[in-house]
Amino acid sequence: MKDSANGLKHNDGLVTSPTSSPAAIIQTESAVKPSLRKRKPISLPLEVGTRVLCRWRDGKLHPVKVIERRKLSTGPDDYQYYVHYNEFNRRLDEWANLEQLELESVEADADEKVEDKAGGLKMTRHQKRKIEETHAEEGHEDFDAASLREHEEFTKVKNISKIELGKYEIETWYFSPFPPEYSDCNKLFFCEFCLSFMKRKEQLARHMRKCVLKHPPGDEIYRQGSLSMFEVDGKKNKIYGQNLCYLAKLFLDHKTLYYDVDLFLFYILCECDERGCHMVGYFSKEKHSEEGYNLACILTLPPYQRKGYGKFLIAFSYELSKKEGKVGTPERPLSDLGLLSYRGYWTRILLDILKKHRGNVSIKELSDMTAIKTEDVISTLQSLDLIQYRKGQHVICADPKLLERHLKAAGRGGLEVDASKLIWTPYKEQGG
Ligand code: ACO
Ligand code: ZN
Repeated sequence: MKDSANGLKHNDGLVTSPTSSPAAIIQTESAVKPSLRKRKPISLPLEVGTRVLCRWRDGKLHPVKVIERRKLSTGPDDYQYYVHYNEFNRRLDEWANLEQLELESVEADADEKVEDKAGGLKMTRHQKRKIEETHAEEGHEDFDAASLREHEEFTKVKNISKIELGKYEIETWYFSPFPPEYSDCNKLFFCEFCLSFMKRKEQLARHMRKCVLKHPPGDEIYRQGSLSMFEVDGKKNKIYGQNLCYLAKLFLDHKTLYYDVDLFLFYILCECDERGCHMVGYFSKEKHSEEGYNLACILTLPPYQRKGYGKFLIAFSYELSKKEGKVGTPERPLSDLGLLSYRGYWTRILLDILKKHRGNVSIKELSDMTAIKTEDVISTLQSLDLIQYRKGQHVICADPKLLERHLKAAGRGGLEVDASKLIWTPYKEQGG
């Protein structure tokens, strides 16, 4: 895979902050029927690799795999197990106590360890098979098996479990490679304005008395009511860019953290009040993308998710592309939530135009009007059954009833970007 991104490069993901509902969960692997065959005496502590049922926060038992274990100080035989729920995205991996595990259900045919010669990593046959077979479907098709394995081995256990940011305490989703001195912290405290992070609340309180920032460092390029967008140049604000990458990685799985943020611009969306401009989410964009990417990473912080900000950020990235006179596409692979958000956005935008033009519009015209790359136009229309391939050409078949049905299913439009409020010149024109 190519390692470009803004400090961060991709992967997939699932559930959310304490504010989100279990209904927001997307299943990424088909449910595995727990098998109770081949019983053998269970010995404790359980081995890494054990498959067992675990009681999740919904009160129900779900099949999991033990990824790691740790000794507790409460007694010589007390352990906690870091488990991955087969049915859910890695963001739901967590430390489980023995009481949560249904020991009756331990599968006897626990994966046998095999040495992976190429990667030098201890892998089970099952892991190897899974990596080879399933990653395409999870949106990891850009990863070769070796780099994916390395990624999963290195990032298998979340290091920071919570952060404090502004008025929110947020549960994290994934591993993020904070400097080693932070590796013993369960919780980190972020300054919501400069994104400096600290180990202790008192340090943050001291910092807040000194920190002069009340908004991201950079130019405000959009204001609409209490919403503002700031453009931060990674070269001019290196530390801010790096801090943002550390923070964002906690919610983005398959992104590799890079320290070279010079090559990126960061667009920070804020809700502003008398106390300052509070970050809601952001996207990053390469200053020059050879692949035609108009967005590298996108994130809405968990407390603000499912309110339309993601679609706003996506729409904003296309408004920038329109100003540049280019079409664009997001960097791949997309996460599960990223794909859902993009599909929803593309569907709504394209179908609105098709409806207005009663279907009399070409793919090229759709792309020109929206700055959405033609491949994304085609794949969206294909997924909706609105396009056919005839005599070597794609033909749009926009039945009004079908359009209406898809538009209804596409859900809310989200917050609109008012292009007249965007005050911005593309990067190269700034002489950079
Ligand atoms: N469950 C089901 N559907 C969801 C969920 C969810 N948890 N989250 C978003 N969606 C879908 C819905 O269709 C939603 O529209 P609706 O609410 O009208 O039904 C649509 O996506 C977008 O909703 P928004 O409220 O506009 O988006 P949000 O502010 O929640 O942000 C984002 C979406 C940015 C993907 C967010 O989920 C996020 O930050 N996730 C973690 C990081 C990530 O995965 N980023 C994308 C990586 S890909 C890349 O960076 C190129
Ligand atoms: Zn600060």
